[in-house]
Amino acid sequence: QGIPLGLGHAVSMAEAHVGNTPFVVMLGDDLIDARTPILPAMVAAGQAAGQSVLCLMEVDPADVGKYGCAAVEATADSDVMRVTGVVEKPSPGEAPSNLAIIGRYYLQPSVFQALAETTAGRGGEIQLTDAIAKLIDLPVNQGGGVLAVVLRGKRYDTGDKLSYLKSVISIALDRPEFGADLRAWLERHLGERG
Ligand code: G1P
Repeated sequence: QGIPLGLGHAVSMAEAHVGNTPFVVMLGDDLIDARTPILPAMVAAGQAAGQSVLCLMEVDPADVGKYGCAAVEATADSDVMRVTGVVEKPSPGEAPSNLAIIGRYYLQPSVFQALAETTAGRGGEIQLTDAIAKLIDLPVNQGGGVLAVVLRGKRYDTGDKLSYLKSVISIALDRPEFGADLRAWLERHLGERG
């Protein structure tokens, strides 16, 4: 009662289904172009290291406050970075980088204990980012360690109405079965309005 249910709460609900195995979280409002998938690389890195893996994307520094933000350092593998800190929706000046956390996570089941120990954060919600911060400090043999891969492909944010509309239109324009018709319709429609 009174506590807004956030992403951290939603993920903790999965414990009964997931049990003691690594698992993937995919946020439905983050669409990643199927032609440039990122999950296979995340799962491979996570399985090889026995650690959790985040998906990061470079954003305009002015926009980083809309996301979780990660501090990273290089590893021997140029495609994989070690996460050294995370902050949920940092205020200006608080962001450790312009690397935003995107809605794909490969998580060790140790995150459930971390979530159970996480108190309300940004927006009064139990934040998944805050639980991930606890994993960074935990030894690997206790389910700790957080790595990251950077998304170079296209990602669409459908989290608000305008970005949802833009996402649907740009994805449809790229589809062979709709692209040409939709483009012609848009051009005609815009011409009539212009
Ligand atoms: C959630 C996460 C945030 C992440 C974002 C990606 O925020 O809390 O760390 O950067 O998803 O879309 P939300 O968009 O639910 O506010």
